[in-house]
Amino acid sequence: MRGQFISFEGGEGGGKTTQIKLLAEKLQAAGIKVVQTREPGGSEGAEALRHLLLTGDVAAWSPISEALLFAAGRSDHLEKLIRPSLEEGKWVLCDRFLDSTRAYQGVAGNVPQEFIATIEKYVVADSLPDRTYILDLDPEVGLARANARMADIKEQSAGLAEDRFENMRLQFHLDLRQCYLDIAKAEPKRCHVINADQAIGSMHDDIWADAQKLIEKSN
Ligand code: TYD
Repeated sequence: MRGQFISFEGGEGGGKTTQIKLLAEKLQAAGIKVVQTREPGGSEGAEALRHLLLTGDVAAWSPISEALLFAAGRSDHLEKLIRPSLEEGKWVLCDRFLDSTRAYQGVAGNVPQEFIATIEKYVVADSLPDRTYILDLDPEVGLARANARMADIKEQSAGLAEDRFENMRLQFHLDLRQCYLDIAKAEPKRCHVINADQAIGSMHDDIWADAQKLIEKSN
């Protein structure tokens, strides 16, 4: 039996990492084998691309170059980790996936959606997530959380390069949020919007209520 593929999306500071961990624990307790992964990254080649993409100057790559690099990483990640894991019956929980390219490079970076859709057609093909949780938050709240987290990390490891995308202007993040909400509207079966401006436990309850339905369906 093929596993379920779940992605987590949203702007900065929505708490994706924590929610992935909580869902993974619940699924494992229910006897389901889980693979936790992330984008950019998740395979050796894609992690090398992650380093190229996320460190250094904000303007290091044009949005179109970024779209191609993220797609190259996604292709490797799908081939080496995601598809084989699903075939083994494992559930794959992925921190960001193709909607991040639509939002960050597409809407916020002005790369034509047509170009992104063409790449998706060949790279992702029929490996769309079965479910995508969009953790939705007012960007001002999300950025404040992300900045606080970054200050902690910097204190622990002085000199670590900053995440380029977290430094961008507020309008960029407002555009991102709108894009995610539009994606959810266009693909309501795949995408569920989760209010990220609530306690960690309440967010998890919302996700778990839906994930249980996925378990029932896949049994
Ligand atoms: P990460 O440190 O994983 O941050 P976050 O906690 O926000 O997920 O950085 C990933 C960054 O890469 C994030 O700012 C979004 C960006 N990104 C894209 O621009 N396009 C993509 O296709 C993906 C997967 C990520």
